[in-house]
Amino acid sequence: MTFTITTPLYYVNDKPHLGSTYTTIACDAIARFYRLENNEVLFITGVDEHGQKIQRTSESKNIDPKLHCDQISDFYLKSWENWSITNNSFIRTTSKRHQFLVNQFFHRVCNSGDIEIGRQKGWYCVGCEEFKETSEEENSPECPIHLRKLEWRDEENLFFRLSKYQKQIEDLIKNDNFIQPKSRRNEIIKFVESGLKDFSISRINVEWGIPVPGYPGHTFYVWFDALLGYLSGTLEKSKEVNLDKLPDFGWPASVHVIGKDILRFHAVYWPAMLLSAGVDLPLQVFGHGFLTREGQKMGKSIGNVLDPQKLLEVYGIDSIRWYLLRDIEFGQDGDFQNKRFVEIVNNDLSNTIGNLLNRTISMSKKWFGNTVPECTDHQDSEKFETMINESIDKYKMNFRIFNFKKATEEIMLLATKANVYLNEKEPWKTIKEDDSQAIVSSTLYNVLETTRIIGYLLKPITPDLSDRILYQLGINSHCDSWIDNLSWGKLDPKNKIPDPKPVMNRLEIIDEL
Ligand code: MSP
Repeated sequence: MTFTITTPLYYVNDKPHLGSTYTTIACDAIARFYRLENNEVLFITGVDEHGQKIQRTSESKNIDPKLHCDQISDFYLKSWENWSITNNSFIRTTSKRHQFLVNQFFHRVCNSGDIEIGRQKGWYCVGCEEFKETSEEENSPECPIHLRKLEWRDEENLFFRLSKYQKQIEDLIKNDNFIQPKSRRNEIIKFVESGLKDFSISRINVEWGIPVPGYPGHTFYVWFDALLGYLSGTLEKSKEVNLDKLPDFGWPASVHVIGKDILRFHAVYWPAMLLSAGVDLPLQVFGHGFLTREGQKMGKSIGNVLDPQKLLEVYGIDSIRWYLLRDIEFGQDGDFQNKRFVEIVNNDLSNTIGNLLNRTISMSKKWFGNTVPECTDHQDSEKFETMINESIDKYKMNFRIFNFKKATEEIMLLATKANVYLNEKEPWKTIKEDDSQAIVSSTLYNVLETTRIIGYLLKPITPDLSDRILYQLGINSHCDSWIDNLSWGKLDPKNKIPDPKPVMNRLEIIDEL
């Protein structure tokens, strides 16, 4: 069965920010993990290009909205390439194929009797592209997220009969697995239990959208169109844009990874739309937390927005991926702190893992020539094998529930234990004793074999560092799967080891980020 994972489809009002980069990196780590576990993976990302927000952005720049979308969309594509993101689908909601799919889907929803014409009155936030539950009487209310004035709307819209799906949605969201992490479930349950109201799926004042067939002047509400992007993304490799083909190309999604602010759309509106159209439901929606910077919300007005492109140029992919996945509990809010970032990366990757490998390789070369030292004394290796198997199990169990923090702890535990072992064994002293070759080469083998396993476990998290570690151990082959590589004793003593070279340079704190 295909493991299908999606990022949100990002608005093209601006270039990728740290939040979108964070989600995309996390999804990439998950996609890589499942591939290494020998699964077929469909990893969908893309951009959300319609709606009033985009229309206004292009107007303010005085350029044609399509041209604006092309530029930013291209920026996203290039950016994910720079970050070595391994998505195999990139969906643009302005594509012809997507428009075709939206029409097809709408047709199905109409046939289910779920579309009605009605009047939409309320306060709207263009930033969120969402009506707020603010009463009509309020004077000049603001959006708590965008801190911008809400706009009053009173217009004819098409409505989707969400209320009809009350019972099914209640059952769905109470299912243990559907909304993750668990802590986010209650808020959605409360919202649903308060009674689902039909929601408008068309606009009459927004030109920059997909026209609703049969309703001149109406365009689809951007969220209706955007969510369907997941289906278009699934069908990217299909010749035909046909909803019936979805199961052949990896639908339903195994998980939609999103930020907590858009959970309601994914856990309530989206499943109801799918039920109406007779399309299978995603298995899980995971709402991660928000990132702040040095304890402060990031915003253009505060001037503290961290540009991911700059971060990448200064610090490189591995260190940023490591920090985001190691230090921030996925699902909870997190804070990017420059000093802490540098400390964690230096401590874990340069000092603990990098030095362990470097000094063991140096000793091996010095005393045993150009190949990996052999393990002839198996007493210690049996203990290592048991410890490593336990850690691999815990690592995998945590990765499956996206607890990257705990998964990386297992890697660090192995590295720390190997360091302690090396210090206790003191091979630099033992080598001076008579007949010590067998014991020293076995000690070094045990440490190198542990670093090999660490190298493989780092693959989904810090892919380049992982390659550099394996290269130091004389392993140059490209590994697409973990099968056969995660068991103890696979490090081949015939492997030629290159000259020792640090696998991770120490970082310095750069103030002008
Ligand atoms: N276009 C919609 C999604 C449609 S999905 C069918 C959208 N786009 S967005 O570009 O505004 O947001 C994309 C994601 O970035 C959301 O999941 C949002 O939660 C996330 N983040 C925005 N700011 C964030 C942080 N400061 N930290 C972490 N993620 C944040 O919403």
